[in-house]
Amino acid sequence: MNPLFDLTGRIAAVTGPTRGIGRAIAIALARAGADIALLQRNPHDEAVKREIETLGRACFIVPCDLERPEEVKAAIPAVTAHFGQLDILVNCAGITRRTPAVDYTEDDWDVVLQVNLKHVWLLCQHAGRAMVPRGSGKIINIASLLSFQGGINVPAYAASKGGIAQLTKALSNEWAKHGVNVNAIAPGYIATDMNTALMNDETRNRQILERIPAGRWGDAEDIAGTAVFLASPAANYVNGHILAVDGGWLGR
Ligand SMILES: NC(=O)c1ccc[n+]([C@@H]2O[C@H](COP(=O)([O-])OP(=O)(O)OC[C@H]3O[C@@H](n4cnc5c(N)ncnc54)[C@H](OP(=O)(O)O)[C@@H]3O)[C@@H](O)[C@H]2O)c1
Repeated sequence: MNPLFDLTGRIAAVTGPTRGIGRAIAIALARAGADIALLQRNPHDEAVKREIETLGRACFIVPCDLERPEEVKAAIPAVTAHFGQLDILVNCAGITRRTPAVDYTEDDWDVVLQVNLKHVWLLCQHAGRAMVPRGSGKIINIASLLSFQGGINVPAYAASKGGIAQLTKALSNEWAKHGVNVNAIAPGYIATDMNTALMNDETRNRQILERIPAGRWGDAEDIAGTAVFLASPAANYVNGHILAVDGGWLGR
């Protein structure tokens, strides 16, 4: 293993690890040597835990429904109690609600902002309390193209992901000098459950593909390598950056 990317002995906590991008990141971190805490809302879903244990890494499931403040507040303390430390936090779980702005409900707004932003902030805060005194740590938030663009019919999602970019920079400004790297990944169009409807809409799918310079949807694995990089010593001098992994979309 190249020591620049070696995560042996590190403890990583990942939200949204059951499917899609979060699952790919959790497995990639384990392949790089980290032991993994899976922060997931269904603690009985052990499929990813089994995959990680097959790789020879330790894995611990922590119940963490991002709609339940009491579970969110208990999650990082549960990880440090179990593993004795926390080196890496990846905030990947996220949701969207798609409705024209004039019809957007307050309930939809509240749940998207809670899951995608407020509770990411709380997990970051708890991770910072563990990492800052130790003088090391990596926090990786999953942002979006809508951290830069406004989108259509997704006002709460755009607001939450814009907030994630600013939160990432704000925390980085405070914690970089304590050896804690806070960065974000902004995925482009990635083929996951979140995009099933878009991929099945022939017209929208064609429009999207025509605009992506790489000419294809991304895979969850396209994001996983970037997460390993940001979690590794190779990224020790990368601070407060929002790294687009988008097949060239934003550059167009
Ligand atoms: N796919 C894309 O094109 C794309 C682009 C930009 C950004 N992103 C971001 O990337 C992240 C992952 O997206 P994805 O495409 O992998 O989505 P996905 O396949 O829909 O997976 C979403 C994950 O979030 C979890 N989750 C949802 N609500 C939760 C809650 N209340 N509490 C805890 N976990 C919850 C899900 O858990 P369950 O299995 O329990 O439902 C699942 O693990 C999100 O933050 C998303 O905004 C995705």
